[in-house]
Amino acid sequence: MTDQPTLRDGDLVLRPWTLDDSDATRALHDREIAHWFDFPAVAPSAQEHRAWIEDTRTEWSARTKVTFLVQWRGEPAGTVDVRVQDPGVGVLSWAVYAPYRGRGLAWRAVRLLVEWAFDALGLERVEAHVNPDNRPSVRTALRAGLRREGRLRGNASLGGVRQDTLVLGRRRDDAHPDTREGFTAMLDSTLPTKRAIAQGVLRAGSAGASQVLLCELVYKREWDLPGGVVDPHESPAACVVREVREELDLVVTAGPLLAVNWLPALHGWGDATVFVFDLGTVDARLIERAHLQQREIRGVHWTGPDDWAGRVAPYNERLLRALESRRGDGATIYLEDGTPVT
Ligand SMILES: CC(C)(COP(=O)(O)OP(=O)(O)OC[C@H]1O[C@@H](n2cnc3c(N)ncnc32)[C@H](O)[C@@H]1OP(=O)(O)O)[C@@H](O)C(=O)NCCC(=O)NCCS
Repeated sequence: MTDQPTLRDGDLVLRPWTLDDSDATRALHDREIAHWFDFPAVAPSAQEHRAWIEDTRTEWSARTKVTFLVQWRGEPAGTVDVRVQDPGVGVLSWAVYAPYRGRGLAWRAVRLLVEWAFDALGLERVEAHVNPDNRPSVRTALRAGLRREGRLRGNASLGGVRQDTLVLGRRRDDAHPDTREGFTAMLDSTLPTKRAIAQGVLRAGSAGASQVLLCELVYKREWDLPGGVVDPHESPAACVVREVREELDLVVTAGPLLAVNWLPALHGWGDATVFVFDLGTVDARLIERAHLQQREIRGVHWTGPDDWAGRVAPYNERLLRALESRRGDGATIYLEDGTPVT
């Protein structure tokens, strides 16, 4: 049976716990630690703490969990551990005692542990489950090279209250967090993703009395411009062309951008940015050739300003009227909730 090793990174040392550490470290437990670990008391009793240290040795022997004391400049400063959950997957946990916080010890210790665990334990992946309100811990995980992967809703409880959990993870074959690729991927995992929608204005008729094509949809009452939600890695212009092909079986070209309309969150949907493209003017009989996608489109209609009130959503009526009044001036209109912002 091999002994648990000691890991070093400059003035930071990760070493096995011993019973001699018990008294000094028990006194260092504080409310912050008790709060986030949902411990019943701020500090464990001497007996509980010694039993916990004994457990770290048994767990090392079984390789079910490996716990290191974080030592900084010779002083016990915290603890980090990795619990081997499924074969190849480790779940991380950490704490730094109050006098030693804010010096970068947590993320350095976690990173040292992770790289050792990939190498010595043969783990393929490590992950951490962090309360989204525990900002220092979320930052610790990210700085240690874990990427934000998702949010589990209400899967944990803290002080008797249901809580969400952020899952952050790092795979052994991820680009190292010190490389540009690894750092970008980490940061990218934390940035907001915004919903984009692409729609098009297809007209028929003469310049003076042109009509706009609207779709009557299966899943909502209001008529809407053809188009849809932009797929990941798809451009808005490519999206509107694809959507018109899928919905109407018509081939169009995305012309100039007529409007960008930001829609606030509504009826349980998140906010979205709508890109409205000019699809040109066609012969009205073109729609006779359209094959409507039955599960989405009930019908298509050439419409003018008199048809919109009550038929399209209020924000779309505002958009259509703004497009009508600015027709021909060549500029892209920026709107919020259908109202032009100047
Ligand atoms: C989480 C904890 C280990 C951080 O320890 P630490 O040694 O202070 O952390 P570091 O100095 O390595 O800093 C890590 C990151 O957290 C940030 N951070 C630290 N304290 C912070 C605070 N109070 N508020 C916001 N961010 C904070 C740091 O700025 C750093 O991020 P940055 O590099 O992007 O600026 C420590 O606060 C702790 O022990 N908390 C209680 C136990 C706990 O929550 N464990 C985790 C359960 S999942």
